[in-house]
Amino acid sequence: MIRICPSILNADRNNLASEIKRISDTSDLLHLDVMDNIFVPNKTFSLEESRKIISETSIPVDVHLMIADPDEQAHLYAKCGAASVTFHLEASKRPHETIAMIASEGSRVGIALKPDTPFELLAPIMSEIDMVLIMTVEPGFGGQSFMADMMSKVSQARAEIDRKYFGKIWLQVDGGISLETIAVASAAGADTFVAGSAVFKADNPGEMVELLRTAARSN
Ligand code: DX5
Ligand code: ZN
Repeated sequence: MIRICPSILNADRNNLASEIKRISDTSDLLHLDVMDNIFVPNKTFSLEESRKIISETSIPVDVHLMIADPDEQAHLYAKCGAASVTFHLEASKRPHETIAMIASEGSRVGIALKPDTPFELLAPIMSEIDMVLIMTVEPGFGGQSFMADMMSKVSQARAEIDRKYFGKIWLQVDGGISLETIAVASAAGADTFVAGSAVFKADNPGEMVELLRTAARSN
C-alpha cells in the first residue's frame, strides 16, 4: 500500500482552500507542517490555523509537529480532528505519555526522527506507535535536496517493522521527494511519502500525486 501526502508548506497560503482542492481527489492524506521557530528556524501554522484547515479539509490530515513542546501541545492537534499526529523524538521528554494522550483522542500516532537521530532510539516505543517518520532533509523548510544516505535508516526500519510488527506500522519519508527520489525511498522500504514542492510546483498538482504513486510502485 502506497500513500501520498502532499505538504501545503509551499502551496499558495493565500488560497489554501483551492490549493487543497486541487490535490484532494488523488491524495491519501494532507500533510500539515507545524513549526514554532524554536525547534526549527521557521514558523508556520498556529493551533487555530491548523484547526481551521483540519475542519475545512475533506481528506484526513497528517500533522507533522516541528515544535519544542510536543508533550504539552501534541494532543491538542489530535483534539482538533487530525487523523494522525507526528512529533519529534528529539523534542519529547515523555514520549510514552504523549503517545497515549494523542491516541486517547482517536488519532494515529507518529514519531519523527531528524537525520542525525538513530533508529535504535525508537526501540522502547515502537510497540506504541502507528507510524515512523524518517526525515530525508533537516526539518524546517521545503524545497531542500533529498538525503539519499538516509536510505539505510529506512531499510533498517522496514526490516524491524516487518520482523516484529507484522508490517503494521506505516513508514513515512519527508523531504526532497520527487519523481526520481520516490522510487529510491520506496525501494528502501518506505510506504508513505510526503511531497511538497514536487506537487505544488507542478502545473497539475492532482495529476502529479498520481505520477508519484506510479513511480513509487515501479521500484
Ligand atoms: C520540512 C517539512 C516537509 C516539507 C517537504 O521540514 O517537514 O514536509 O514541506 O517539502 P519538500 O517536498 O519540498 O521537500
Ligand atoms: Zn513534514
